[in-house]
Amino acid sequence: MRLTETADVWWKNAVVYCLDVETFFDTDGDGRGDLRGVSQRIDHLAELGVTCLWLMPFYPTPDRDDGYDITDFYGVDSRLGTHGDLVELITLARDRGMRVIADLVVNHTSDKHPWFQSARSSRQSPYRDWYVWRDEPPPDGDKGIVFPDQETSLWEYDEKAGQYYLHRFYKHQPDLDITNPEVRDEIMRVIGFWLRLGLSGFRVDAVPFLIDPSGSLDATELPDPHDYLRDLRAFLSRRSGEAMLLGEVNLSYKETRSFFGDEDGDELTMSFDFIGMQKLYLSLARNDPAEVTKALRERPDPPEEAQWGTFVRNHDELTLDKLTDEERQEVFDAFGPEESMQLYGRGLRRRLPPMLGNDPARLKMVYSLLFSMPGTPVLFYGEEIGMGENLAVEGRNAVRTPMQWTADANGGFSVAEPTDLTAPLPDGDYSPEHVNVASQRRDPDSLMSWIKLLAQRYRECPELSWGECTVLEHESPSVFAHRSDCEGGTIVAVHNFAAEPARATLAIAGAGVGVRAVDLLCDGTEDIGPDGTFELDLEPYGCRWLRVIRPGDRYIV
Ligand code: GLC
Repeated sequence: MRLTETADVWWKNAVVYCLDVETFFDTDGDGRGDLRGVSQRIDHLAELGVTCLWLMPFYPTPDRDDGYDITDFYGVDSRLGTHGDLVELITLARDRGMRVIADLVVNHTSDKHPWFQSARSSRQSPYRDWYVWRDEPPPDGDKGIVFPDQETSLWEYDEKAGQYYLHRFYKHQPDLDITNPEVRDEIMRVIGFWLRLGLSGFRVDAVPFLIDPSGSLDATELPDPHDYLRDLRAFLSRRSGEAMLLGEVNLSYKETRSFFGDEDGDELTMSFDFIGMQKLYLSLARNDPAEVTKALRERPDPPEEAQWGTFVRNHDELTLDKLTDEERQEVFDAFGPEESMQLYGRGLRRRLPPMLGNDPARLKMVYSLLFSMPGTPVLFYGEEIGMGENLAVEGRNAVRTPMQWTADANGGFSVAEPTDLTAPLPDGDYSPEHVNVASQRRDPDSLMSWIKLLAQRYRECPELSWGECTVLEHESPSVFAHRSDCEGGTIVAVHNFAAEPARATLAIAGAGVGVRAVDLLCDGTEDIGPDGTFELDLEPYGCRWLRVIRPGDRYIV
């Protein structure tokens, strides 16, 4: 059966929405969002057209890295709810046609995890070799530090243990020793457990670190680390035919491609397109789509059933680490000139709307690109209404402020005292008074209405997710035009990166007589000449999606 006619490979054309339970909606008035809150707001996500909900870590945690420091891989943090609340949420989501995935953070644990507490207490502990210990830190122990503002080494001396332990991230996040078969088995059990509770897969945290065995003393005897990823995927698929792994791999395209596995795609099901995201910002800074075009041409095709996860923003710093120093500086100059807006010298701690001066046309153009470029769009909560950041909140948390539901106190997020919220809401132009769900729901011209439309059209156009994508050549330098073809259907999408109107003459080879291009985002029809050419006008930062209609086509437009 044609895969495009089933929903078996559902991630291929999903609309993924990432949220942190803690900042979404508070039902018990303690200032912290909870699982019941997400359930109560499920219809907002359904209305938006979300088909896959990605929950950031909800496990028990001392919360020193926003939940990415876990003390029980099988638990639900009691401040957020119970296993029962989670199962209800998954059940409700299913009813609205949404699958739920969650972060799988198994590169490390919290140092408060009972395994680590036991491991450090004695060399005889059964958990001692679940972590990576050394008597002396290796000479290159300061290489590849992820959080350079907080850490100076990947190795930390533990008094109680009398040895150094490896931590790729913060020192309170000791790395598990992935070469230990007991650790590997335990991770499988964790996966098996959550699949039973109804999850449809995982966003896998820090994949390259997770599978990297080099910290282990036995590294020389180790098999190919990708074997482990293959094992994980095989286990996952045996347990659930619909389950997927969406990996966080921020490496070169060539290396990232290798995490999908060979042609059969037997490792990650999806991987984020970090490079495409960074090049998009460079193109936006230059008002010139050339870098987007280049990235798209360089991006390797994933295996047939795998997919890139495309995004504009995620919960971390907006990393620009794959740009050259000069390119990164260009993006900083355009979108985050002040030091307080930057992080670790490599990224920005801002959301998109303030970076683009809240220009509605430009914002709409960016989301139109996100939904029309090949890949599965992944939204970060609040993007649908154009939320801004709060730079008064420390570090990466500037973009993790509470969801803004209404213009009321606390943005309708919670009835707690404002000082009890997980993070203060932004003031000024991006405060709940100006940016909230309630007012945008009623406004057909709002960003939220636009994103709903994009999600709907994207779901109606299998070409965009399954098709072969070709960048169209033309003479207008500010315009990015691409076509996607699949099973006889053709979609053309055109985006103007400039603040001036633009006109592009495009050619659709082999168009034939009686062929038209019909706008999908607004009313309009363009006749395509017998030679296959047609002219398109675009507003400043304008965008259009067109379906090519050939006589006798099956599509409704
Ligand atoms: C990933 C997460 C990030 C977290 C880190 C450590 O990079 O995206 O938020 O701090 O892993 O778990």
